Amino acid sequence: MGVTPKIAPSMLSSDFANLASEAKRMLDFGADWLHMDIMDGHFVPNLTIGAPVIESLRKHTKAYLDCHLMVANPIDYVEPMGKAGASGFTFHVEISKDNWQELIQRIKSKGMRPGVALKPGTPIEEVYPLVDSENPVEMVLVMTVEPGFGGQKFMPEMMDKVRVLRKKYPSLDIEVDGGLGPSTIDMAASAGANCIVAGSSVFGAPEPAAVISLMRKSVLENQEKC
Ligand code: DX5
Ligand code: ZN
Repeated sequence: MGVTPKIAPSMLSSDFANLASEAKRMLDFGADWLHMDIMDGHFVPNLTIGAPVIESLRKHTKAYLDCHLMVANPIDYVEPMGKAGASGFTFHVEISKDNWQELIQRIKSKGMRPGVALKPGTPIEEVYPLVDSENPVEMVLVMTVEPGFGGQKFMPEMMDKVRVLRKKYPSLDIEVDGGLGPSTIDMAASAGANCIVAGSSVFGAPEPAAVISLMRKSVLENQEKC
C-alpha cells in the first residue's frame, strides 16, 4: 500500500492560549501533522479558530497544518487560509454539492492539498465523484463522531465506510477523526485508515508520545497484513 501513517493531534484539545508551544510539544512527541478544526458556529454548533490563528501559528512552525473546515461556506475560506499558510484544506461534502469542482481547483491554486470530509449520516458514495474526478481530492476524512466537539465517543459503525474506501482506492489518504485513541485505533487501522486525528486521547494522556507511537504502530502493523 502506498500510503504512510500520519498521526495528527487535534489542536482543539490544546491550550489555545499557548498554541505555539502546544504545537511544538506535539511535534516533539512525534506528531506528523497538526489537525486544526475551523468551525463557524453555523455548520456546527461551535466556534473555534479561523485564518488569523493559522497565520499566527504558521510563524512558529513549518509543520503540515491539516485544516478541517466545518463551515457553511468553505469557498470563502480558501483565499484567507491559503494566505495564512494552511497545508491541507478539507471541506465537507454536505455543503459542497454544487461547487466542489471549483473548490478543489481553487484550493490547489492556493498551494493547498484538497480533502473532503463526510459526517456520520452521509453515505460514502457521495465522495466517490470527488475522488474519481480528473482534478481529485487527495484525502477523504471519515468522521467517526458528529463534528463540532472533541471528547466524543468513537462510532465503530463508520468503519464500513473506511473499508469500502480502502478497497476501492488502495493509495488514497483516508483520515478518521473523532474518538480515536489506544482503545479504538486498531478498529480504524484494520479497516484501512492511515491518517489518524486524535485530540483528547493525546492531550489527556500522561505520556502523549506513547499514544502517538502506539497509533503509528497500529497503522503500520495493519498495513503489513494487507
Ligand atoms: C470534532 C473535530 C475533531 C476533534 C477530535 O468535530 O473535528 O478533530 O477535535 O477530538 P477527539 O479526538 O477528542 O474526539
Ligand atoms: Zn477535525
